[in-house]
Amino acid sequence: MKPGRSNRRRFLQSGAGLGAALAAGAGLAADDTKPASEQPAPDDPTKVQGRRASAYGERSRFETAVRTVQEHNSLTPLAAMTGIITPNALHFERHHAGVPDIDPRRHRLMIHGLVDRPLMLTMDDLKRFPAVSRIYFMECSGNGSRRTGLRTVQEAGLTSCAEWTGVNLSLLLREAGVRTGANWIVAEGSDAAKMTRSVRLAKAMNDVLVAYGQNGEALRPEQGYPVRMFVPGWEGNISVKWLRRIKVVDAPYQTREETSKYTDLMPSGKARQFTFEMDPKSLITFPSGGQKLQGPGFYEISGLAWSGRGAIRRVEVSTDRGLTWKDAILQEPVLPLAYTRFRHAWKWDGSEVVLQSRCTDEHGDTQPPVEALLKARGENSTYHFNAIQSWKITADGNVENGFA
Ligand code: CO
Repeated sequence: MKPGRSNRRRFLQSGAGLGAALAAGAGLAADDTKPASEQPAPDDPTKVQGRRASAYGERSRFETAVRTVQEHNSLTPLAAMTGIITPNALHFERHHAGVPDIDPRRHRLMIHGLVDRPLMLTMDDLKRFPAVSRIYFMECSGNGSRRTGLRTVQEAGLTSCAEWTGVNLSLLLREAGVRTGANWIVAEGSDAAKMTRSVRLAKAMNDVLVAYGQNGEALRPEQGYPVRMFVPGWEGNISVKWLRRIKVVDAPYQTREETSKYTDLMPSGKARQFTFEMDPKSLITFPSGGQKLQGPGFYEISGLAWSGRGAIRRVEVSTDRGLTWKDAILQEPVLPLAYTRFRHAWKWDGSEVVLQSRCTDEHGDTQPPVEALLKARGENSTYHFNAIQSWKITADGNVENGFA
């Protein structure tokens, strides 16, 4: 779209293009009511000096995907993601008493309980320990639990994947000296909810991180700045943010978040407790609900798969509501406990179809159809919902919830 004559003149006068003009607050009077993404760009960028370097980067003003913000959480726009890494500004959030404002210079992490040498660590102390960086997905155990399917893939956006950097908790626990009789740890956050969860000692000694880095920079405040626990593959709530205390104990603490919440009431009337691992799950992100195909022809179906029990071994795609399945291509890298991006070449003939994906992890665990999951879990269990999602493509190319 060409800018109006007067706008164009102002561009040329500015000599620095629209970005700089907007940044300087000069604006374009004719378009002040429109968002930045609808403001005109120069007709020929080679004729205009570009804007200057900046101190902290921002994405193009034409990229507008944002999190869906709800009362206590925000959902990652999965359809807008490329590859397997979620940018920090779009990582999903879930907090129970808001995001605390913490000065890292005053923050302390205490490790105590059944240990020989209790520790009280500053952030500087923590960063002197050898660090590791690993790519892991995170998913809220309540993610995507709509039994009647999703209208958009972002409705299942309580999941993200990032590179996390920090210290192996096993190293800190060895430093403190775990005593015999210890079987669990209890982690506590510094938020107003004092989020508290119990973790089996075996898991704590295996792959749990005390993380202060996320995708190459410090954790975002909404991800636990200055330090969080990160428990790979397990339900997101247990990766306690704003971590201030780890107590080594003999038995789980039966906190609110492991009794009245984050338990799964079964048809028998009994609840499953300590259901930690996230089950294998996959979502087609393109085409997905709310999008529109521009007519018959070639498309590459693409999506994300993950499992809290290990690596993804296989993703199958169906274009006929589950009658037949074909193997999708798994894009490297295929890492355990991380997103795997899958792709599947497809030619749409223009008729109404239903697309589905189904992943299988290295243990052979796979995703059930919705009916099978509901039959096994009953009406009262909402966490750990990993049923196969269906997208219907109508003859005019609209992509909708394919729940039948
Ligand atoms: Co659970």
